[in-house]
Formats: sequence, structure tokens, C-alpha cells
Amino acid sequence: MPPFRQNSSISFICQPSGEFMLQGKRITLIVSGGIAAFKSCEAARLLMKRGAEVQVVLTEHAAEFVTPLTFEALTGKPALTTEWAKNPYSVMPHIELARTSDLLLVMPATANLIAKAANGIADDLASTLIAARRSPLAFVPAMNQAMWANPALKRNVENLKLDGAAFFGPVEGLQACGDKGAGRMMEPAEVCELADALFSPKTLSGKRVIITAGPTYEAIDPVRGVTNRSSGRQGFEIARAARNAGAEVTLIAGPVSLATPVGVRRIDVVSARDMDQAVQTELDQSPCDLFIGVAAVADWRPGAVSMRKIKKDASGHSALQDLLWSENPDILARVGERPGAPVTIGFAAETAEGATLTAFAREKLIRKHAALIVANDARFALHSEENAIRIVSASEEEHFGPASKRECAEFIVAAAARELARRG
Ligand code: C5P
Repeated sequence: MPPFRQNSSISFICQPSGEFMLQGKRITLIVSGGIAAFKSCEAARLLMKRGAEVQVVLTEHAAEFVTPLTFEALTGKPALTTEWAKNPYSVMPHIELARTSDLLLVMPATANLIAKAANGIADDLASTLIAARRSPLAFVPAMNQAMWANPALKRNVENLKLDGAAFFGPVEGLQACGDKGAGRMMEPAEVCELADALFSPKTLSGKRVIITAGPTYEAIDPVRGVTNRSSGRQGFEIARAARNAGAEVTLIAGPVSLATPVGVRRIDVVSARDMDQAVQTELDQSPCDLFIGVAAVADWRPGAVSMRKIKKDASGHSALQDLLWSENPDILARVGERPGAPVTIGFAAETAEGATLTAFAREKLIRKHAALIVANDARFALHSEENAIRIVSASEEEHFGPASKRECAEFIVAAAARELARRG
């Protein structure tokens, strides 16, 4: 929880902590014998970058793919392969590691180790440690698509899920054996993201959240259009933070070049009317608890789109000079007006600061039927890695940052969860 300073009866200023949830966590990375084992080296480094302490345990077969020395050099700790060799954990490393680990992360998880874990078989250090576990357990499967489709494997996975284990992936794609399909291991960066998320407070557990992000693009002709400088980063970070908080997240994105956060459902749109249509369809299809409109939606679009590129005529005049504009739907306001509307949160990206920024936000709060408005100075936020925000409700305001957009997203999601809880 970041420290906060009471500023007045209605506003306070918070400072970001900058920490990942994995900070200080002890992770035992269990590597089993698949070709994807080489990617676990990168995972070990990325987990450490997030502040985790990593102890590697390899199965005998994993050590055929990557040597214990590689992991020792990366983590600074001897990588263990057996109970029987001398090690820093007394004579019972499986018990000591089970007692002290905050997470057992099995990556790659082979069909063999999954089968052993599902059936309580404990015949080497890795499987004995899993049998003795006291911490959360997560598997990152990697195997041939036919092995992943095998019914016995599927039963084992289901049983492990019933026992409380998490599964990260696998994903679809090209496999080392040349096959294509489900069974490919999730990339290390995504695994680290999901491992981090395991430790996030589940403040939005069971909630459905819809988020709009990025700019919209309003065509004038086949080569020209009207858009804005939104990168989509803040909206994508909010989607990630909401996922970490346990929500089922749908992200409706304008044209951006950002990767979809793992576990988030993404719908790509181009224009404001596309975005509005996608939002309305989503709301019609299943109930939603929280709507966060982060997208920088164009308020106006050219009244008519030319099917051909607009050119100057002989006198130098262009139809571009005579463009007429039609108003776009206000997506946020339309969500707020729906019967049984979700809690709605809007954004106010203004070229204003201080009390004027708050006043703009309050006006928007009322006009758009929003529960909260996140106000920021667009000159600072657009296309930046950082943001400085103020969350404005009818009677209060909270200031946060400057901080990374990830930290701002966590702060916004925490405020959203409090608002949902307040409304019961
Ligand atoms: O009115 P203004 O564009 O400043 O409002 C910003 C907020 O309203 C943002 O949350 C944005 O996503 C949303 N918005 C919208 N539809 C529009 C315009 C803005 O949902 N047509």
C-alpha cells in the first residue's frame, strides 16, 4: 500500500511504490526435460529482475537440455538435480524448499511431470518437492500438440486444477518437432507477468470488465483520416492490472501497435462508431460490472467518406477545404445511460492543470453519468511512458504520480474496486 498524505478533507496525494508483486518472493523454478527448457534460463532472469529470489531444481532429463551450471551462473545459486548430492538445504532439500518457497513454478512442464504431480508420484527431487508443497503451484506446459491433446494428459491437468494448481498456457504455434498446434510453451515474459499476477490482491475477482483503449481513426478518403496521438498504453496497462486483480477483461482497442496482455480478450476496431458498436454488443451479450473508457475517441468524423483520394482541382481547390463534420456517439455516456449500467469510469485528457483540470473532470462526471473520472494533462500523458493522474468523484479527488503507466493503472484499478465494493 503506497503511503498517502492527507491534504484536505476531500483530497490526498499518493506516491507510487514502483515494486512488482514478485519483489522478495522465493520462487522455486522446477525445470523438466523438454526442449523448451532453454527458455527457462530467460525466465529465471526475468523473475529476478522483478525482485524474486530464484532457486532452480532440474529433473534428470532437464539437465540433458540445459546444464545446472547455466542456471547456477544465472541465479547465483547451485541448481539442484537430486536429493542425494551435497546441497545448501540440509539432507532434505524437498522439505526445506517446500517450506520456504512462495511459489513452485514448473517450466517447462512435461507430460511426464504433470502425470506424476497429478497422481502424487514422488520419485525424484522435482516430483517429491511438488508432493511436499505448501505454496501455490503453477505449470507452464510444453509438449507436442498430440501429447497435449492426449485424454490421459487432459485428465491429469483437470485433476491438478481441482487441486488448486494454475496453468499458464500452452499456446498455439509452431513446435520444435515441426508440428503446429496447441502445446507450445508460453513466452518467459508472459509467464513472469502471470506469476506476478498470482500475488496481486484479487479485488476484482468474478467481475467482468470492459475497457476501451487507444485512438480512433475516422476516414476522410482511402488514404487520409483523422486520429490523435493516443498510444493505448494506459488502457492496455489498466487491462493488465484488472486481469491481475482477477477480472475477466475485454479490451476494445483502436489502432495501436501493442501486444495484447496475456489472458485478456481483445477486440480491434478502427472508428468511433465501430468502437461504440463493439461496446454495445459486448454489453448486450453478457452483464458487465465495470466499464473503463480510456480510449481517446474522436468526437467528430467527416460527414461523408470519399471513395477516391480527394485531389485538388485545376484552380487548386480541394474538397478537403469544405469538409463537413458529423458528431460521433459518446460511448461513455451511452454506457452510463443504459438501464442496469455497469459502474463507469471515464478519462479526461485535457490541456489544463490544477483546479481547472478537476473542474473539467467534475463537469464530465455529471455529463457522462460516470462514477469516477481520471483526469490527466494530455501534454504530459500522450505517447509517454509516464502519467500523473487525479481520480475525481462527486466529492473527492485523489492525486497519483508522476509514475509509470503500470503504477497508474494499478492505482486506477484499486480505486475502481473500492467504488464497486462501496456500491455493493
Ligand atoms: O468528452 P471527452 O472526449 O473529453 O471525454 C473523454 C472521456 O469520454 C474518455 O473516457 C473517453 O473514452 C470518453 N469518450 C467516449 N466517446 C466519445 C468521446 C469520449 O466514450 N465520443
